[in-house]
Amino acid sequence: MKIIDMRSDTITLPTEEMRQAMYEAELGDDVYGEDPTVNRLEELAAHVMGKKAALFTPSGTMANLIAVLTHTRLGDEILVGSEAHMFWYEVGGASALGGVVIRTVPNDQDGRIDPGAFEQAIRPKNIHYPQTTLLCLENTHNRCGGAVLTPEYTSAITQLAHQHGLRVHLDGARIFNAAVALDMPASELARLVDSVCFCISKGLSAPVGSLLCGTQEFVEKARKWRKMVGGGMRQAGVIAAAGIVALQKMVSRLVEDHVSARHLAYGLACIPGVTVHPEKVQTNIVNFESPATISGTGFIQRMDAHGVRFTERGGRRVRAVHSPHGQCCGHRRSPGAH
Ligand SMILES: Cc1ncc(COP(=O)(O)O)c(C=O)c1O
Repeated sequence: MKIIDMRSDTITLPTEEMRQAMYEAELGDDVYGEDPTVNRLEELAAHVMGKKAALFTPSGTMANLIAVLTHTRLGDEILVGSEAHMFWYEVGGASALGGVVIRTVPNDQDGRIDPGAFEQAIRPKNIHYPQTTLLCLENTHNRCGGAVLTPEYTSAITQLAHQHGLRVHLDGARIFNAAVALDMPASELARLVDSVCFCISKGLSAPVGSLLCGTQEFVEKARKWRKMVGGGMRQAGVIAAAGIVALQKMVSRLVEDHVSARHLAYGLACIPGVTVHPEKVQTNIVNFESPATISGTGFIQRMDAHGVRFTERGGRRVRAVHSPHGQCCGHRRSPGAH
């Protein structure tokens, strides 16, 4: 059966060019800083993000965790959007391993945090309170349907945070989707933030990895935290090589995913009972609601039986993500097959 897999853009597979680059990659021990391919990827990442340095991590979750560990001290409070990936899907790592209080501030439907609500959430100096030291943003915003934060918004709220002595970390797992949607360099979207991470393993199709970018001093500290949480990889150039191809060759094609996502949204809008807002679709994610006659789970199971895969988001909510390998022809394994 032909499978159309829209569960996530993390299902993407490395391109032929990536596989070739991986095969040919010059390698060394990256914990000693001696893997030339990792070093090249880190330099390239810092350059495209307009930061001084970058650190290669095995995942976006680890990059976000390391950012929190590096920016905060035990007992601090961090502010994140109520719909943030860091809050929902990272196993509470910032609290469990970073020892910080995670406090949420409401996200609007476009993935933004209201600057007034943000300012109010910052704790005043008081012996009873933890100190608020970090604001985390997300661009594009996963749970808010791939919504894009503009550079104006990000710069304004970052300046506000800085006025209050907070640092700002940007979870830019899909920042290149935002950059392509706005037709501007990704560095513009991260200009004032203190750190930014992005994933090469989503729409950019590399098999593994994320990059955490910031000042030289930040990345030096982050490198030590990476070692502590077990993210020091040895001949990691074998995967970094794919990341270089991802950054050099795969960014511009993200527009194809955005066009497909919008196409899907307009198609869904024609189905009686489906609730969707196609005009809101800015990048590769489409959130919609299944008809009232069927639960989200029931809808997903029925679609799966026809070879179309979505992710359940609770209640009748469903998420579809467009990516290069989502529409490939696959063969469904029969039950019990390996
Ligand atoms: C916005 C956002 N941040 C972080 C992550 C975590 O990335 P990873 O799956 O590489 O840990 C994801 C993954 O989907 C994400 O969507």
